[in-house]
Amino acid sequence: MPRPNVLQIGEFPSAQQDIINAEVRRYAQEDLQRDPAVSEGIEAILTRSSYQVPASLLASLPNLKIIATSGVGFDGIPLDAARSRGVIVTNTPGVLDAAVCELAIGLLLSLLRRIPSADRFVRDEAWAHELFPLTSSLAGKRIGIVGLGRIGQGIARRLAGFDVEIAYCGSKVEGLPYAMISDVRELASFADILIVCCPGGDRTRHLIDGAVLSALGSSGFLVNVSRGTVVDEAALIDALEKGLIRGAALDVFEKEPLIGSRLATLSNVVLTPHAGSATEETRHTMLRLALDNIHRVLDGSCALTPVK
Ligand code: DGY
Repeated sequence: MPRPNVLQIGEFPSAQQDIINAEVRRYAQEDLQRDPAVSEGIEAILTRSSYQVPASLLASLPNLKIIATSGVGFDGIPLDAARSRGVIVTNTPGVLDAAVCELAIGLLLSLLRRIPSADRFVRDEAWAHELFPLTSSLAGKRIGIVGLGRIGQGIARRLAGFDVEIAYCGSKVEGLPYAMISDVRELASFADILIVCCPGGDRTRHLIDGAVLSALGSSGFLVNVSRGTVVDEAALIDALEKGLIRGAALDVFEKEPLIGSRLATLSNVVLTPHAGSATEETRHTMLRLALDNIHRVLDGSCALTPVK
């Protein structure tokens, strides 16, 4: 079977790149610039959540049929431009929920118990001459979940064993034992810890702003495993520096990779490199689904997981 011509936007780890290279004829954006004829043959775009697909690119790819992202978020894909050209967009919902939930719980515990600092404290042998500061318990805390979708529900379920009280904002979900507090500022006032796991995009841009952070208060913690754009990062840095909130654990940032940010100088933050889904098992399943979507659409079948 001929391998389809696929424009890859973004980097994949080498084991995944080998799989891609074995199944498709892979082109990079530089190849389009080097030889404009390549654009004619491109049938699919394969990308990941950390990258942007420019709307202007679509006009130069007359045979493009599908944009497949190996990720659940599609805020980097110009949906309207794709739809107007009849290009199908697919993502990989469901298969990464567990990994993102696990990282959210890991970040939460790392933040409250200061695990990264404690690790440094032991390695640096500071333990020989001082006591590590006391940290915060999770038990007994009130958790506000911003967005009770698949990932939000998975986090809530995993938190059930930690003796916490949970409330949420976002779309109403029936049949679950959590209070809904529809105003995010009110949710922040209720919560000791706000966990952000709603989709990114224009509708949630800077949903967590200075006012929400003030409502969370000086003993409050923020965890973000959603998109950097959901949090007003300048307001967050200000709140962290001034002690308006107690700490934050962040897997996502307004601009990634995070370079030269004041966040990296603060001791009350835990930072990870947009790694919510980054386990071997999960990323393998995501890529498989993204490639299967490409093969199916190019064979004339329905996509397995189209963005609706
Ligand atoms: C996604 O799939 O959108 C996640 O952010 C990846 O980690």
